[in-house]
Amino acid sequence: MLRVAVCVSGGGTNLQAIMDAAASGKISNSKIVQVLSNNPGAYALKRAKKAGLPAVCVSRADHSDREDYNRVLLETLQSAEPDLIVLAGFLVMIPAAMVRAFPNRIINIHPSLIPSFCGTGYYGLKVHEGVLARGVKVTGATVHFVDEGMDSGPIILQKPVAVRDDDDARSLQLRVMEEAEWKILPKAIDLIANGKIGVEGRRVTIAEDLDMFAL
Ligand code: GAR
Repeated sequence: MLRVAVCVSGGGTNLQAIMDAAASGKISNSKIVQVLSNNPGAYALKRAKKAGLPAVCVSRADHSDREDYNRVLLETLQSAEPDLIVLAGFLVMIPAAMVRAFPNRIINIHPSLIPSFCGTGYYGLKVHEGVLARGVKVTGATVHFVDEGMDSGPIILQKPVAVRDDDDARSLQLRVMEEAEWKILPKAIDLIANGKIGVEGRRVTIAEDLDMFAL
């Protein structure tokens, strides 16, 4: 049974997708052991509590400096003894010490096709604003392992989403969530929970015949 900690900052729709997939059996062999937020007002925390999951907030405002905050963040996660940490809209820079404590055991969902529209400054709605400003016709979402860089770890799953002429950033954000994020994030967890993911350098291998367009 894979012990999963989920880190959130906002609405928690990806957390909801994970909880729903676990309830319906789309994610097997795993258990959410902690939901952690940096934001005391995150609706994601309410979702977790409603589902009866252990929910905790580690707020930057309660810590005098970044080092102290990073230490408490890591200790709080370690206290839940997770096998996998899922960043589901967690808008905090992951400290190097956490990456080293959980090598290839932290995954992140990013709302674009990495390596486009990722890295510093690209998070949440800003990603979709960048997509529209550049005029690309296809965007999507990516699940990747977290390394010490920004959105630079090995890519596990990606799913494309068409950009429409009448899209604004919000409509595109919602469609990327519905068509891509809420599908590939639970799928990645299920693959990891069932031992189907291998990592060789920056390349991830999947021991399943997977059609990402059909996910
Ligand atoms: C999601 O779109 C996620 O991909 C994005 O934040 C949103 C959180 O929504 N994450 C990033 O931009 C990370 N760089 P949610 O709280 O409803 O799941």
